[in-house]
Amino acid sequence: MRLATTVSMAAAVLLGVSAGQVNASGEKLFTDNNCNGCHYTQGPAREKTIDDQLAKKGPELWYAGSKFQQAWLQGWLADPKPIRPLKYNSLTEKNPADHPKLAAADAGAVTDYLMTLTSSEVVKGAAGKGNKMKGKMLFMGKKPKMPCKACHQYPKKKKVLGGLSGPSLVDANKRLNPDWIYAYMMKPKVFKPIKMMPVFTGVLSKKHVQNVITYIGSFK
Ligand code: HEC
Ligand code: HEC
Repeated sequence: MRLATTVSMAAAVLLGVSAGQVNASGEKLFTDNNCNGCHYTQGPAREKTIDDQLAKKGPELWYAGSKFQQAWLQGWLADPKPIRPLKYNSLTEKNPADHPKLAAADAGAVTDYLMTLTSSEVVKGAAGKGNKMKGKMLFMGKKPKMPCKACHQYPKKKKVLGGLSGPSLVDANKRLNPDWIYAYMMKPKVFKPIKMMPVFTGVLSKKHVQNVITYIGSFK
């Protein structure tokens, strides 16, 4: 084993990040394609102030393997489509839809690498099985009054409705790991110390969160 690999795996263990098999070629492709110019890949969260957040050119990827579903990630890297309706860190400009694209073969290797970047704060099975109808009431801001839809797009039959300030949740059932959503909503400080989304801990119960995740997971 190369020394660099040994060191980075030891560092991963020290950081509490589960040390998967680091995919060297995917990691190299990530640097070669300058992905690290806009994304950081080592936790814990580095942004401490609003200015830190605004200085970032793209979302942090240090927990990508816990956040994303592998098949979606591979497809998206080869053919990226806007996730946030608005430009990153903007509340007025439209998403320019200009994310760098990887060749299909490289997308697989980079995905394998990104899937090794996990957070031990994400617990398998945590999202549980909630009540979809109750989750829908919550999402729509009926009961309790938490209008997720004010900031997130969601599908209704063939239409897309909802607000633009947060990432679209239209394909969240294929894109996101429900157990990551649970950890993200219950432990905001770990994943997003600088809040762009309201904090729901202490406001929503564990059951509320499981219900809304079950609703989001039902999007087709
Ligand atoms: C010029 C800056 C820039 C570069 C270079 C770049 N990205 Fe991105 N990346 C972004 C932005 C901005 C977004 C948010 C896009 C959106 O919401 O539609 C993003 C989103 C992503 C996402 C989804 C993250 C999330 O939390 O929604 C992944 C995965 C990703 N990029 C991987 C890569 C990889 C792999 C490369 C190298 C091939 C790369 N990026 C190169 C700026 C960049
Ligand atoms: C005031 C606007 C606002 C409200 C209300 C809101 N969100 Fe968000 N949400 C955001 C923003 C902005 C982000 C992106 C945060 C970031 O990357 O810093 C986000 C991120 C998310 C994500 C992660 C998406 C991704 O791709 O990274 C999920 C899941 C989510 N919100 C679910 C919810 C749910 C469920 C509710 C209702 C209980 C809700 N949000 C209410 C603005 C909002």
